[in-house]
Amino acid sequence: MDRVYVEDLGSHVGSEVRIRGWVYHLRSSGKIKFAVVRDGTGLVQCVVTEGDSPPAFEAFDRLTQETSCTLSGVVREDKRAPGGYEILTRTIEVIQSPVSYPISPKEHGVGFLMENRHLWLRSSKQAAIMRIRAEVERACRDFLDGRGFVEVDAPILTPSASEETSTLFELDYFGSRAYLSQSGQLYNEAACMALGRVYCCGPTFRAEKSKTRRHLTEFWMLEPEIAFGNLETVFDLSEGMITAAVERVLERRAHELETLERDTSGLEKVSAPFEKITYREAIRILKDKGFEIEFGDDLGGDEETALSLAFEGPVFIHRYPADAKAFYMQPDPDDESLVMCTDLLAPEGVGEIIGGSERIFDRALLERRIEKYGLPKEAFQWYLDLRTYGSVPHAGFGLGIERTVGWICGVRHVRECIAFPRMIYRVYP
Ligand code: 4AD
Ligand code: MG
Repeated sequence: MDRVYVEDLGSHVGSEVRIRGWVYHLRSSGKIKFAVVRDGTGLVQCVVTEGDSPPAFEAFDRLTQETSCTLSGVVREDKRAPGGYEILTRTIEVIQSPVSYPISPKEHGVGFLMENRHLWLRSSKQAAIMRIRAEVERACRDFLDGRGFVEVDAPILTPSASEETSTLFELDYFGSRAYLSQSGQLYNEAACMALGRVYCCGPTFRAEKSKTRRHLTEFWMLEPEIAFGNLETVFDLSEGMITAAVERVLERRAHELETLERDTSGLEKVSAPFEKITYREAIRILKDKGFEIEFGDDLGGDEETALSLAFEGPVFIHRYPADAKAFYMQPDPDDESLVMCTDLLAPEGVGEIIGGSERIFDRALLERRIEKYGLPKEAFQWYLDLRTYGSVPHAGFGLGIERTVGWICGVRHVRECIAFPRMIYRVYP
């Protein structure tokens, strides 16, 4: 008899199968007992009656929540059962049974659940988020691979900052200083000069001292970089990639979205082109809404939320003041105080999920910026080299995986969008 995954039960109706998993829920009603079992691919109700199998009926009493077990029985279609099938159980083999499991179906506080993240991941909602996350990453990769991009993995240990120096994680590197990567961008810039269109996707690190629903200290970023690309390229690619990822999740992860009770009406409307407004327009909208903000200020979390709510779909904000942004951004030819950058805000109050820009390709200008931002010139020699040997205009962006997954899943806090979140007060488990 074959071992079958719960998600494949549909093609085994009427036959006897073996499933292996963990007890999710137990109940009895008189002479019938029910064990809902999960195996990572779904839930199935296993019906146990004394008449069908006395040994299984007896073994049922040894089951507790999260008991690991192997069960066998005949698959039957049942529209009312979770997953749509049930198993008329013939044998139950217990592998290990917990005395008590800390996470019961009752409500727990987030602190407790985070402390038990290694177990919390087993719950239906958390598992659904992980499946959607995997789908988002795969959809983005497929999108870029299908357009001729080459994935080039960026290093994690780096000699310099790429974003704000205040969020660098510093470490001792055999007696000298190194940092955990804040972004693969600078390496992508080198790689795109070798391969044309590249991307990296991996963990990035920021010592974010703020405790907010959008900040992790370790988060995953997917970053494309395009030689000869410009801001238009960034708009087009981000729109295409986001649209592809949302469509893919709606198509292949409908069940998980349902588990999360996600109202998908907003997601269904996501389509390119997205709304585009300048930073200047954004400031005007915010002032109209009563925000005390001046031209030149960066947009904070509250401002992003307000802007995000002002539009039905995702919205690009472009051309920020240079001083509010990173050192490497290309000035706007029409106004040198602005840079050719954009942030994409996801709707429903979510806020920034993408940051991108054109990169400075003139060596002298880049040198002046490195100096102005107080960055150590020695560490950037290789980066400056890219502007010495066949420099070309180029552009790229970074998509935050957790924020994107949070938006698609309708989960407010990024801490649930990565298996083991790292935040200012959490590195355990
Ligand atoms: O806007 P950011 O800082 O851009 C960069 O790092 C560029 N070097 C990317 C590039 O052009 N290749 O970060 C990009 C995205 C943000 O829009 C956000 O989604 C996510 O990364 N992000 C975070 N996500 C979770 N926690 C944090 N602390 C994050 N910081 C940024
Ligand atoms: Mg940003």
